[in-house]
Amino acid sequence: MSTPIHDHGGPSPALEIPGYDFGKLAIARSPVSLEELRQIEASAGWTAEDAKILERHRRIFLDRAEEMVDSWRAVIGQQPHLAHWFVGPDGQPDDAYKAKVKARFVQWVRDVCLRPHDQDWLNYQEEIGLRHTPAKKNATDGARTPELVPLRFLLAFTGVIALGARTFFVQEGVEGEELLRLQDAWARAVVLHVNLWSRAYAREGLW
Ligand code: HEM
Repeated sequence: MSTPIHDHGGPSPALEIPGYDFGKLAIARSPVSLEELRQIEASAGWTAEDAKILERHRRIFLDRAEEMVDSWRAVIGQQPHLAHWFVGPDGQPDDAYKAKVKARFVQWVRDVCLRPHDQDWLNYQEEIGLRHTPAKKNATDGARTPELVPLRFLLAFTGVIALGARTFFVQEGVEGEELLRLQDAWARAVVLHVNLWSRAYAREGLW
């Protein structure tokens, strides 16, 4: 059984993940207010109950996050139009970049179920959105891959990630009503994150 990467407010070895800048001053402050965030949460049907359910099943996310990410990245690997955004100038996949991004992606899964939706969380969502666009893609790892994950693929991939944790929930023995609740909470959380990331792509005033 693995040790939790972090707990609410506790000291966190996760901070040693290269480029994982959660809570750091260097990252952008989200222009979204906490009040606007609450409106978006309500629009997505996200409630405090969802947060509780994810936290109740934290063990699944802490233990299986890497396998989840591997399964989603396999989907990217199978589709050249997606794998393209990890390819270096020599036409080969940039394995060092992929490894660094993967470590942060795994941490993200754990954060989804453990981090409260406060200002630090909001700021890091702004940062992740920007990291999918020319504003910040490649910058964190000094990579030289194409500079944009187009919005259409970011949005489409929610289909994979929002639904792609269910197998793990079932394998971990969650069933019945609790399985439905956990699945719904995870899906809503993913929608919420990608919603906030989409801001980086929107023309001023349209988001
Ligand atoms: C629901 C959809 C998606 C989720 C939840 C997601 C999640 C993430 C996360 C958590 C990170 C790391 C953020 C950090 O630096 O802490 C990341 C980075 C990245 N993602 Fe996504 N992603 C999604 C869609 C996509 C798609 C469709 C692609 C294209 C194949 C993609 C390519 C990348 C790349 C290239 C990076 C590294 C960006 C950089 O240079 O820092 N992502 N993603």
